Amino acid sequence: MRHLISLDALDATEIERFFHAVDDMRDLISIGSQLCRERILATLFYEPSTRTRLSFECAMLRLGGQTLGFHESQTSSVAKGETIADTARMVTNYADIIVVRHKLAGTARVMAQHSTVPVINGGDDSHRHPTQALIDLYTIWRHRGSIRDLNIGICGDLRFSRTSHSLAYAAARLGAQLVHISPSELGMPESVNYRLRHLFGASPVEVTTLQEVIHTLDVLYVNRLQSERLPKPLQSLRGSYVIDTETIKQAKADLLILHPLPRVDELAYDLDSDPRATYFEQSQNGVPVRMALIASLLEIDPYQFNLHSTLSVRKDDTRCRNPFCVIVHEKYLQPEWEVLQPSEGTEEVLSCAYCGTLRR
Ligand code: NCD
Repeated sequence: MRHLISLDALDATEIERFFHAVDDMRDLISIGSQLCRERILATLFYEPSTRTRLSFECAMLRLGGQTLGFHESQTSSVAKGETIADTARMVTNYADIIVVRHKLAGTARVMAQHSTVPVINGGDDSHRHPTQALIDLYTIWRHRGSIRDLNIGICGDLRFSRTSHSLAYAAARLGAQLVHISPSELGMPESVNYRLRHLFGASPVEVTTLQEVIHTLDVLYVNRLQSERLPKPLQSLRGSYVIDTETIKQAKADLLILHPLPRVDELAYDLDSDPRATYFEQSQNGVPVRMALIASLLEIDPYQFNLHSTLSVRKDDTRCRNPFCVIVHEKYLQPEWEVLQPSEGTEEVLSCAYCGTLRR
C-alpha cells in the first residue's frame, strides 16, 4: 500500500521524476482530465486549513474524481470519542484515497496503519507537512532547474513549523545547503537537526538574524509564528521578525522568496510587487502537485512512485513522552521506534516513528 506520510521513502531521482509529472498536470488543468473518474478523495481536516484542503479537493475534481469529508472535527464521530484507527477503518469504505490533517503528530501514520486505501499526511502538529514541501521544491525547481547546491534559507518559527521540517529534509536530500534563521527560542528542534545531519548528510548553518546571510541566499523561505502551538511565554515573540523591501536590499537579484501561507505579520505587503516574491505562484502550484500525487498514489499509469525502503522500526513498550504525539492519546497503539543509524562506534539513537522525538 502506498501512503505519503513523509517524503523519506522518495529519493532524489524519484522526487525529480515527480516534478516532471507535475509539469504534465499543469497541461491537464487547461484541457481537463478523467484520470480519476469514479474515484473518491476523502479530506479529513481536524485542524483549520484553506489551501491544503481546497487544493486537494480542486486537484481531485480536475482529475475527474469526486470528494467528500469534513473540516470541523466536531461534526464527525471524533466528537463522540471515536479513535483514529476506527475512523480510518470507516473512511476506507467510502473513499479511494484519504488526506488527513490533525493536531497530534503521527495521526496520518496511524490512519495509514488502519486503512486499506492510500493515506496522505496533510500536516500533523509541528511534525511534518510533506505535500507542502513538494510544492515548495517544485516551485524552486521550475525556476532553477535543480535544487543541488542552492543556498536555501528557512526563516521564522523553525521550532513549531511542520512545513520547515519537511522542506529541510527534502531540500537536504536534493543537495541544497541549508541556512536556518530564527530567534534563538524558535530554532530547529534537536530531533530535526539530528536527522538532517545523520540521515541526510546536511550541515545546516544556524543564525539568529537574516541580515547576516541575506546576500548569500538563493531562496528565502519564510513562515509565520505558529501561535496556536506556541507556549505562552513565547507569544511575545510576535513581530520579532518581519521581512520587507528594506530587509532584502542586500539580497541577490534572482532570490526566490517563498512562504507556505497564510502570512500574518512576518511578510510585509510591500514585498508583493517585488519580482522576487514567488509565494503566490508557489501556492498556485498546489493544485498540479496534488494532482500528480493523487495519480501516483492511486497507481494511475504512468504516474507511479518507486518508494524506497526507509529506516528499520523496532516495537517495544517504551512510550513516547511528547505530549503532542498521537501515541499518548490513542492508548491502543504500540510504541514504535525508528533506528537512526549514527556513524559507527557511536551509541544507537532511536526516534519515535510517529512524531520523530528522540528517545533519550
Ligand atoms: C501551513 C501549515 O498548515 O502548516 N499552511 C499550509 O498548509 N500552506 C503553514 C502555516 O500554517 O503556517
